[in-house]
Amino acid sequence: MKTLTAIKQRSSCRNFSTKQITEQELEQLINAALAAPTARNLQDLKINVIQDNQLIQDISDESFRLMDEEILERMKSRNAQSLFYGAPTVFILSSPYTSFSNQNAGLATQNIALAAEAIGLSSCIIGLVAPAFAEDNPQNLKNRLSMTDDERFCLAIAVGYANSEKEPHQLNQNQIRIFD
Ligand SMILES: Cc1cc2nc3c(=O)[nH]c(=O)nc-3n(C[C@H](O)[C@H](O)[C@H](O)COP(=O)(O)O)c2cc1C
Repeated sequence: MKTLTAIKQRSSCRNFSTKQITEQELEQLINAALAAPTARNLQDLKINVIQDNQLIQDISDESFRLMDEEILERMKSRNAQSLFYGAPTVFILSSPYTSFSNQNAGLATQNIALAAEAIGLSSCIIGLVAPAFAEDNPQNLKNRLSMTDDERFCLAIAVGYANSEKEPHQLNQNQIRIFD
């Protein structure tokens, strides 16, 4: 698939099949994440690949436990039992905190999303699981991902086959400022 087609077609999937992705697909996604640039080419981003259903559920449950009412209502309206919407593969991007760690994670996440789209998979970027890894959460799950003391959660992305698809969001030209 052409890059521009993948960019145009990608949308957030919030209803995944439990069918696991193949090893070849996983390898393609991992390589896409590794191909993302990092500031000063430090390659300090950690790409935690999770296919352990219990661990995926535990991360979601811990985030639900700390969720405020408004987000809880939004998840209820989506009929979501899991913050990962049933996806069988989840990437958690983490990094020692630097001024560029979140940017690095965003770039790797988008590479995974576009690579997934290009090979017929779906994805959803997930920020709402941050509380499960927060420093001020005494029950945080950092140790479950072997995260070091200085490592921070940056972003997550759920990947799998879609049970149902959503249209991509409408492009909003008001976001553009042109100086000519
Ligand atoms: C940084 C970031 C965090 C996000 N976190 C979540 C999340 O926790 N849960 C979720 O369902 N969607 C999440 N999304 C997906 C956005 O809601 C989605 O991209 C947006 O509504 C546009 O829809 P589209 O991706 O289908 O084009 C996140 C997206 C970004 C970029």
